[in-house]
Order: sequence, then structure tokens, then C-alpha cells
Amino acid sequence: MLQIKDVYASVEGKDILKGISLTVNAGEVHAIMGPNGAGKSTLASIIAGKEEFELTKGEITINDEDITELGAEERAHKGVFLSFQYPVEIPGVSVTNFIKTAINENRKAKGLEDMPASEMLKKIKEKADLLEIDRKFLSRSLNVGFSGGEKKRNEIFQMAMLEPKLAILDETDSGLDIDALKVVANGVNKLKNKDNAVIIITHYQRLLDYIVPDFVHVIMDGKIVKSGTKQLAYELEEKGYDWIKEELV
Ligand SMILES: Nc1ncnc2c1ncn2[C@@H]1O[C@H](COP(=O)(O)OP(=O)(O)O)[C@@H](O)[C@H]1O
Ligand SMILES: [Mg+2]
Repeated sequence: MLQIKDVYASVEGKDILKGISLTVNAGEVHAIMGPNGAGKSTLASIIAGKEEFELTKGEITINDEDITELGAEERAHKGVFLSFQYPVEIPGVSVTNFIKTAINENRKAKGLEDMPASEMLKKIKEKADLLEIDRKFLSRSLNVGFSGGEKKRNEIFQMAMLEPKLAILDETDSGLDIDALKVVANGVNKLKNKDNAVIIITHYQRLLDYIVPDFVHVIMDGKIVKSGTKQLAYELEEKGYDWIKEELV
């Protein structure tokens, strides 16, 4: 599904990613861990195609198609979903209206008509039921006065509605309480299937108590310095990141 080949990237002239290679297959959940400032969010942004970040070398493909030159919106239309680290508040626009617009934008880009209202309603109901989201929540203004858990619920609901091929969840926000973590974990567990893939970026091992990743990668100073199974996450929790640093010396 996703192939990152020897990617180097910079922000404002500063080199951040220094040769990242990663393959994510359909049906897999990958966790990316690493200390603050290691380049985790930069990696997420470079996959999603955010324009502040410049890919200086390497290639990113999705289902064998080179997306390196595509903008963020085009990548979204190809099924790449990046969670928002800083959700915007939009008074007067409900959770449902926001996602309706996003879905129809997506369809427009593919040359399709708007989704018929009845189909949209059915889908909203189905996904809300799956994620145990109540109707009142769906009519609230986007992110206005949302708690940490509600912001996550909204994000997971959007992901459920958009059905991305590749979802990247950047959970670096240390403000996440246990309820918010559970919302994310529960959503990912319900939405993952053999045709999609998830990359979860997290500073803390805690989230991985609820989502079992197939692979764990550790980024330090812009490079993947270690990959393994979920066992690696436990080792990191026990020994911290310094242990890997020492191993590298
Ligand atoms: N928009 C930006 N402008 C300048 N420097 C940035 C920007 N975004 C990230 N950086 C720098 O890039 C490095 C990696 O950041 P980031 O990818 O956010 O790390 P992580 O998510 O692993 O904590 C840090 O040194 C950070 O200061
Ligand atoms: Mg980050």
C-alpha cells in the first residue's frame, strides 16, 4: 500500500528526515514512536503532503503510484487521511455538515455527483452506531467546546465516514487523557480491516495497550533506528529511549 523510499525532508531549510524507508501493507497497523523532536510529525506531514515540508530526496508511493509530487488534497482523494493535531473550531458548522462537505468534495474530485441525502444519512447512522456516538454530538458545532475525548471522537467519526486506505493518527498530544485514548483505540480497532492500513504516531506506549500494532518503529534524529513487534514498545516503556541511543553508539 504505502512505500517510503529513502526520504529526506526539510522544514524552513532545516534537515529533519534523514533517509526514512518504510513499507506498510494493507491490513497492517504500524506504530511510530520516538522522543520529542525526532521527526515523527514531520514524517506524517510528508506522507500527507503538507506544503510547509519539503521532500528533498526519495519517493513515496501508494499502491505503486508515485505521489511525491501531489498536493495534500490530491493525496486525500487517493485515500490518505491525517488526523488533525490542532482541530479548528467552526461555530455554526455541525459535525455532520462538515463531514458531508468533505465527502462530497472527495466525490467531486473523482467526477461523481453528491452523495444522495438518503445514502448519506444511512452512512452517518451506521458509522455513529458502530462507534457508539450519540446523535446530539453529531449536531454540535465542530470542535467548539469539545473535550479532548470529543475531539478524538470527531476525528474517528470523520475517519469512519471517509474510509481512507491509509489513516495516519498523530497522537503526540500529551494532553490525551485515558478516555480520549480509548476513543481512538476503540475506533481504530473497529475500523481496521484487511484493505486499509493505519499508522499511529505516539510518544507514549500507553496507547498501544489498547491498539496492538503489527510493527513498531522508533525514529530518532530523523531516522528509523529500530523496528520490531509490539514487544519493542514494552521494552521502550521499561528502558526509555536512551537505551536505543546507547545501543547505537
Ligand atoms: N513548521 C516548522 N518550522 C520549523 N521547524 C519545525 C517545524 N515543524 C517541525 N520543526 C522541527 O523539526 C523537528 C522535528 O519535529 P517533529 O516532526 O514535530 O518531531 P516529533 O513529532 O517527533 O516531536 C524539530 O526540531 C522541530 O523543531
Ligand atoms: Mg509530533
